[in-house]
Amino acid sequence: MKKELEKTLELAREEILEVLTHHDLMQLKSRFVGKKSVLNNFMKKISTLPKEERPLFGQIVNKAKEELAEIISNREKEIKEKEYNRTLQAESIDLTMPGRKREQGSLHPITKVWREIEDNFISMGFEVAEGFDIEDEFHNFDALNTPHDHPARDLSDTFYIEDDVLLRTQTSTVQIRIMESHKPPIKIIAPGRCYRNDNDASHSPAFHQMEALVIDEGVTFADLKDILNIFVKKMFGDKIESRIRPHFFPFTEPSAEIDIVCVNCGGKGCNVCKGQGWLEMGGAGMVDPNVLDKLGIDSEKYVGYAFGLGIDRVAMLKYKIPDMRLLFENDLRFLKQFS
Ligand code: DAH
Repeated sequence: MKKELEKTLELAREEILEVLTHHDLMQLKSRFVGKKSVLNNFMKKISTLPKEERPLFGQIVNKAKEELAEIISNREKEIKEKEYNRTLQAESIDLTMPGRKREQGSLHPITKVWREIEDNFISMGFEVAEGFDIEDEFHNFDALNTPHDHPARDLSDTFYIEDDVLLRTQTSTVQIRIMESHKPPIKIIAPGRCYRNDNDASHSPAFHQMEALVIDEGVTFADLKDILNIFVKKMFGDKIESRIRPHFFPFTEPSAEIDIVCVNCGGKGCNVCKGQGWLEMGGAGMVDPNVLDKLGIDSEKYVGYAFGLGIDRVAMLKYKIPDMRLLFENDLRFLKQFS
């Protein structure tokens, strides 16, 4: 029986050393040293030995058990370490590999200019007002003193949604909304989107304007000129002057167009300003007393000025963008230049 035990031990040592996975090792463990194992069988068979041999054989079996338990536990450590190293290797990260580049977004040039214009006027005490993109004829035309036969109302200029519902063609609508809901003194700007049936290098069917309205006692045309000049210098630098030319708008009297010195050539004349040295930037004027009276503001007491700037135009001048359509095509190659 001793020899048999030796053989079993021999076999167990070999198999334990050959086993490769933890799972197989555990199976060997129960086969050799567990409750129903080979070694336990030897223990059971002790009773078949002569009495005097039993204690010694018992000791031998126990020793064999201890030995196997130790070999198994050593092997277990080895296998675990190997498995651990294997996982480490499989999940290893190559720190020298170049990282994946994450694209960083940036503000659209119109948003940038919009915010800059807004900030400039806020710093001069203006509040920001908002109107609606979808308007009625009253706010877009009637209240702005625009006659029924005015060409601007034409279907070919204005996008009508229904008879009396349209996409606003100008942020001047916000002047009316503010005068309806606020008493003077009023000092607001209203940047926003406008819509007109126009599409070429300097016009887009959806575009952006910024309206300004100031109503108070004793406001003058000189205040208007002054604020425009300050704004233009803040926006384009000290060398850029502004000027106003007589013009006509139904809701202002007198009315003017605002020009600035061509930011491209500094006034010498170039292809951007078509040789004029000046660029058009918007309209302005003293609020027509008719408009004030219709909205219940006493035109004997209060005077106002208003102006409207093309935000897209300012962006084009500021960033030297030759075609307005570039601003709306969402071509990343173009937009990335402003990040
Ligand atoms: N709303 C005019 C336009 O879209 C621009 C304008 C002119 C606005 C004179 C004004 C103004 O506030 O006083 O052409």
